[in-house]
Amino acid sequence: MDVFEAIRTRRSVRAFTGEAIPREDLEKIVDAGRLAASGSNKQPWDFIVITDHTIIEQLATTSQWIEQAGAMIAVVMDPESRWWMEDGAAAVQNMLLAATALGYGSCWLEGYVLRNEEAFKTLLGVPPEKRLMVLVPVGVPVEWPTKEKKPLEEVIHWERY
Ligand SMILES: Cc1cc2nc3c(=O)[nH]c(=O)nc-3n(C[C@H](O)[C@H](O)[C@H](O)COP(=O)(O)O)c2cc1C
Repeated sequence: MDVFEAIRTRRSVRAFTGEAIPREDLEKIVDAGRLAASGSNKQPWDFIVITDHTIIEQLATTSQWIEQAGAMIAVVMDPESRWWMEDGAAAVQNMLLAATALGYGSCWLEGYVLRNEEAFKTLLGVPPEKRLMVLVPVGVPVEWPTKEKKPLEEVIHWERY
């Protein structure tokens, strides 16, 4: 799948079969994340790959569908870095596209993490000075959702707004 096809077809998937994901595919996805652009090339990130279902279940809290993910990738950022949020977002988007290109569903969980950050940091052993920014569940999708996007004509401007 080329990058345009991955961008076009990526959607947030919230229903997984529960199948495990091969380690090399998880490495490819994280590799896409660590190759993202970052302010001043600080690369202020770490990625925790979680395949142990006893931990994934604890990360699922109120969202039961997360339990069916084959793996979870936690994006840990260093807030000392000036552009940490933008850098983290770039890494997450790269990983969503890589997961899509490999045929997996994924989802950007950030609002969900914010509500549970301290508990999840403790569970995952994240140092207190770091931020747990996003969780990315990755799994074999039960279905591929569609979601309407604004048409290009509505958002594109040439030369001036
Ligand atoms: C910053 C950000 C935070 C998000 N947080 C959550 C979340 O906590 N839970 C969730 O289910 N989806 C979350 N999403 C996914 C969005 O709901 C989803 O991207 C949006 O509805 C558009 O759908 P699509 O991803 O299928 O294009 C988040 C997405 C972004 C970019």
